[in-house]
Amino acid sequence: MKRFRRLRKNNIIRQMVQENRLDINELIYPLFVVDKASFKKEISSMPNVFQLGFKELLEECRECLKLGINKILLFGVLEDDKKDACGSDAYNENGLISRAIKAIKQEFKDDIYLIADLCFCEYTNHGHCGILDENGYLDNDKSLQISVKQALVMAQAGVDMIAPSSMLDGIIYTLRKALDENSYYNIPIMAYSTKFASAFYGPFREVAQSTPKQGDRKSYQMDVANSKEALLESLEDEKQGADILMVKPALAFLDVVKDISNHSKLPIAVYNVSGEYAMLKNAAKQNLIDYDRMLIEIMLSFKRAGASIIITYHAKELALILGAK
Ligand code: PBG
Repeated sequence: MKRFRRLRKNNIIRQMVQENRLDINELIYPLFVVDKASFKKEISSMPNVFQLGFKELLEECRECLKLGINKILLFGVLEDDKKDACGSDAYNENGLISRAIKAIKQEFKDDIYLIADLCFCEYTNHGHCGILDENGYLDNDKSLQISVKQALVMAQAGVDMIAPSSMLDGIIYTLRKALDENSYYNIPIMAYSTKFASAFYGPFREVAQSTPKQGDRKSYQMDVANSKEALLESLEDEKQGADILMVKPALAFLDVVKDISNHSKLPIAVYNVSGEYAMLKNAAKQNLIDYDRMLIEIMLSFKRAGASIIITYHAKELALILGAK
């Protein structure tokens, strides 16, 4: 008889043979900034997630550092009256995201590693991730052009890494080339290489006020039924110069994470998205689950699948849970 239970006898031996562990250094915490000096509003569907004014954004960064979290994924949330058809605030040197990046970098220098989400849905009046043509179809190549402008504005503001999330064809190559030509060759690109047209983004669109006014994102984001295409997209982004690949959402797509980790040697990030967060929070609110244990179990599933970076709204809670261990 093979006695597997020998290595499960007590906690010490179980710890010794544990194959995957969580580490605070692999967590990235998303933050949402609005164009106000002081503001803080909780998102009804996402307890403990806030839209933050500049003052509160900096306070939040300070609190993260205290907890040991030093990587932020920053989203700009623009007021409706500042939005336009091509999201020009996103590539304005004095626009929201540029000023927010400068504010964080000015106060925290290299203590915080600042990643900016590069997309247009939070900045356009139609809510799509770039420029639309006369038929309401996302114009890939025109959208690439404004993505370059956005990337350069972010780079100039001092961002540490960019994360293009629009799923435009050719975006990684285009942005890499533009950054390199402008001497920003040290800014890495984390590609949202596999981003599905998912129902799990529902609560995010409330935070980011980025729901498309018409139609959906299916002409650019991937069909949730596809996995071979996910691998093609990822390997293509690797070829175009991505430094990190990402799968989003995370929990319902672990097969995809595993598949990519079997075929690429790049670091893989998962985005544990708003809908995943809201599901867990609601189950906890109704006392249906052991929240902390379930949270750790979910995070470990990402690690088992092959991800080494986790973008999650749970980062602060995880820091406390891991610190208490
Ligand atoms: C687009 C973007 C989205 C998310 C991150 N970046 C939403 C979308 O594509 O509609 C979703 C994140 C989440 O649900 O937590 N800029």
